[in-house]
Amino acid sequence: MKGVSYNSFGGSEVLQYGDLPEPKLSQNTVIVRMKATAINPADIALQAGSGESLMETWFPVVPGWDIAGIVERVGAGVVEFHPGDEVIAYMHQEILHSGTYAELVSVPVERLWRKPKNVSWGEAAGLPLAGLTAYRAVSDALRVSGSDIVLVLGASGGVGSLATQLAVMSGATVIGSASALNQTYVKSIGAEPVLHGDGVAEHIRKLAPGGVTAIVDCAGQGALAKAAAAAAPGARICSIADGGPGVTTVFARPDTGVLARLVDLVEAGSLRITVAASFALADAAIAQDALKARTCGPGKIVLVPEVP
Ligand SMILES: NC(=O)c1ccc[n+]([C@@H]2O[C@H](COP(=O)([O-])OP(=O)(O)OC[C@H]3O[C@@H](n4cnc5c(N)ncnc54)[C@H](OP(=O)(O)O)[C@@H]3O)[C@@H](O)[C@H]2O)c1
Repeated sequence: MKGVSYNSFGGSEVLQYGDLPEPKLSQNTVIVRMKATAINPADIALQAGSGESLMETWFPVVPGWDIAGIVERVGAGVVEFHPGDEVIAYMHQEILHSGTYAELVSVPVERLWRKPKNVSWGEAAGLPLAGLTAYRAVSDALRVSGSDIVLVLGASGGVGSLATQLAVMSGATVIGSASALNQTYVKSIGAEPVLHGDGVAEHIRKLAPGGVTAIVDCAGQGALAKAAAAAAPGARICSIADGGPGVTTVFARPDTGVLARLVDLVEAGSLRITVAASFALADAAIAQDALKARTCGPGKIVLVPEVP
């Protein structure tokens, strides 16, 4: 099978597209034929070696943690899924070795859920990691409700766009930061857009003179510090990309119960996954560079096995 792998840490230049051994099928795994996989900033960070102190790395590494695809074979212990089923998964692994940038992927059955029926493969691949993170931030960490004024930093990103929609769904008033390129998009998903960068706190105070009651930082890069002055006294603050005093750090966690809820929301038309661009698997390096540059527009960048 074809896939993308790297043999040493580095930037997108270490990625190699070529033949890889097919994954083995153990009792409680499912072989999924990948139809789309999403690129996440974590792929790029781990590839650069940032996870070395936290997790084992077994080279060659196939990057990627999001998959949407079709079940090809099931292990002897799997009764929940059958060949032909359309599925998605967040494939986080404790050892960096066998990810989703490949035509065939072995997925533990407890990570799988059915694909939302009403979206493309690319959109489906953009849901698991980003959706699980957004849900943990908005619903679990901050418990956003209709009485909140919520600031989502990075509202145009893969996670931020879903966090924004979840906060809007809860009835909260939502303000979302993004670049000039993505202001219209942020408005389209139900938030009042503000430009990120210097002066962001003043922009937000104009929209919420009493301050925001909750902040979801989906941007990192110091965005929280720049916006901190817009927080009302006692505001709840969480970040998926930064830390600090009074900030709850949130990490994605595989959870098919939450994934099921997200799939239901997508199928009900309440949650929209936006695909900024789609690249062929062979162009994974170009796709990673595009994610870093963030010039493709809002939402997720995805890879598909064939040329899109
Ligand atoms: N803790 C976890 O489990 C977890 C899970 C997923 C992601 N993350 C982390 O969360 C961050 C976002 O992930 P993502 O997948 O949503 O990334 P993404 O799709 O690339 O989105 C990045 C967002 O940040 C905004 N942004 C970029 N530069 C900025 C700056 N200098 N100041 C303010 N905002 C800026 C972007 O806005 P524009 O494009 O409009 O400029 C965009 O909205 C990454 O650092 C990622 O590693 C953590």
